[in-house]
Amino acid sequence: MPSLNEKGGQGVLPTTVETALAARPKPFWRSRKFLVLLGLYVCVHLGHEARENSYLYNSGEAACPQADVLTPTKNADVWTALNDKIGTPAFKTSAVDWLSGAVRVPTESYDNMDPVGTDPRWEAFAPFHDYLLGAFPLVHTSLKLTKVNTYGLYYEWKGTDASLKPLLLAAHQDVVPVDPSTVDQWTHPPYSGYFDGERIWGRGSMDDKSGLIGILSTIETLLEAEFQPTRTIVLSFGFDEESAGFHGAGALGEYLLGVYGENGFAMIVDEGSGFTKQYGSIIATPGIAEKGFINVLVEVTAAGGHSSIPPAHTSIGILSALLVHYEKHPHKVEITRDEPIYSTLQCVAEHGNDVPSVLRHTIKKSASSNKALRRLSSFIQKDLVLSSLVGTTQAITRIEGGVKSNALPERASALVNHRIAVVSSLDETKQSNTELLERLGHKFNLTYTAFGQQVSAEGAPASGTLTLSDAFDGGLEPAPVTPTGKDAAPYQLLSGTIKATYNVHRAIQDVDSVIVAPSMMSGNTDTRFYWKLSPHIFRYNHHNAAIADSPLAGIHTVNEFHNIDSFLEQIRFFTTLILNADEATSF
Ligand SMILES: *[C@@H]1O[C@H](CO)[C@@H](O)[C@H](O)[C@H]1NC(C)=O
Repeated sequence: MPSLNEKGGQGVLPTTVETALAARPKPFWRSRKFLVLLGLYVCVHLGHEARENSYLYNSGEAACPQADVLTPTKNADVWTALNDKIGTPAFKTSAVDWLSGAVRVPTESYDNMDPVGTDPRWEAFAPFHDYLLGAFPLVHTSLKLTKVNTYGLYYEWKGTDASLKPLLLAAHQDVVPVDPSTVDQWTHPPYSGYFDGERIWGRGSMDDKSGLIGILSTIETLLEAEFQPTRTIVLSFGFDEESAGFHGAGALGEYLLGVYGENGFAMIVDEGSGFTKQYGSIIATPGIAEKGFINVLVEVTAAGGHSSIPPAHTSIGILSALLVHYEKHPHKVEITRDEPIYSTLQCVAEHGNDVPSVLRHTIKKSASSNKALRRLSSFIQKDLVLSSLVGTTQAITRIEGGVKSNALPERASALVNHRIAVVSSLDETKQSNTELLERLGHKFNLTYTAFGQQVSAEGAPASGTLTLSDAFDGGLEPAPVTPTGKDAAPYQLLSGTIKATYNVHRAIQDVDSVIVAPSMMSGNTDTRFYWKLSPHIFRYNHHNAAIADSPLAGIHTVNEFHNIDSFLEQIRFFTTLILNADEATSF
């Protein structure tokens, strides 16, 4: 899943960046799963901060309209039959075998890997392909498999109606490496796939072999039931999502673009968030956006020389002043109504059973009142997680300079890592960096160049230089925001599918059992390579975050596990999604 990580995992940052920034498995706070949970946490955390009081607010029109439960009609028989089957002990055994077998084949991806064919570590994926071939025989006889860049898996299950745009289901084959020094902290060995009757243990059991195996298990089962799709289904499984995705999804995205063209897919569903209980309500939070990022390299050069006759400021001293200036001037976090998190908040206010009344009032009122919107901003500013999701962030992550205790440093540099707000852009971020340092550049008498443009006066004498540049590869724009309005048929279909899945898994009829709230994560998934394929991209795989002991259990760290009940519900989700999309006529 998406991660905040600068390096592997659901790498937010490209490989080169990740490479340069770090050389160990990414900590879980940079992981996709962590981000998933951020979305959910957003809801919880809000409640703690709001003070209860007696405001009452009567809203006029409904915010956050909810789709109806959507169950297949044309495909009703196969849906019912499959749901019955998924509920049997025999199917549970198959599901355990499928997932635990996949966990037993390690597929670690690392930062700094050389291209496929050069770096032997990629060869770990060949046994995984062999495993899939053996585990899913019907998939491999009925779907067309194309291997892209050797290990990228692209399956096509041709539908009978070529006029319908295909559904694209994505997942990734690779896992975060297990840190060898932590192996003895695992209750069950990380590649055991051990099943204790409730949980399947091991690296990848959740992230993201549950997604990949969930999809293939669903299709194998549909094939067994002799289902023939009307709408073509395409599967795209990258193999280096945990280290930025260039070799896997990067190549697959290009390939699919060549085959299906721009906007060639009806919708895309990749790994992402799930649902959990917040505010007395079950809230599902499909990711509809991703922040961008850029690593700004700040470099100062100054004359060298012997440290016994120093100037007032060395390059290191000047750089330090610049970095202090950065931290004194964080980007201001102001929520706008275009922000995905704003939609999340609207949904919580409209449908959450237990939202503190002052918070509910402020959120609702902000739809029409700028004053209330500012109050909401100041509320968000006090919450680190929320404000990080809403605003452009900055973090000084690396610094270097100097080579010798008695030599004046000729060069000093630092990296400032920004995660760019969905409503902002790379250009805006570069511009604000440039303006931020202008006064100090002048004060320290430096020739100032930012992103290739000279900022200080041409030819003026100077005692050194200040240069800002994109480190590595220039960063990534924020993702386009997936439409979620009443007319956005794919979002409505996904919402109705989530509700139907939740209900059928629990054998309940209650239409209002789940609130679907569009949300976002601060990291990136493989979908960063799929933007051109469809505007309807969702990062969601229906994990039940409510049943893990800790919502962050094991993701990207020791003791990763997946609960079998949640995995079975995931299979119901993919089943319902495929059947609903198959008969949808609105897109
Ligand atoms: C800037 O540095 C140059 C070169 O050392 C020097 O000639 C010039 O006077 C300095 N300007 C200021 C304003 O200190």
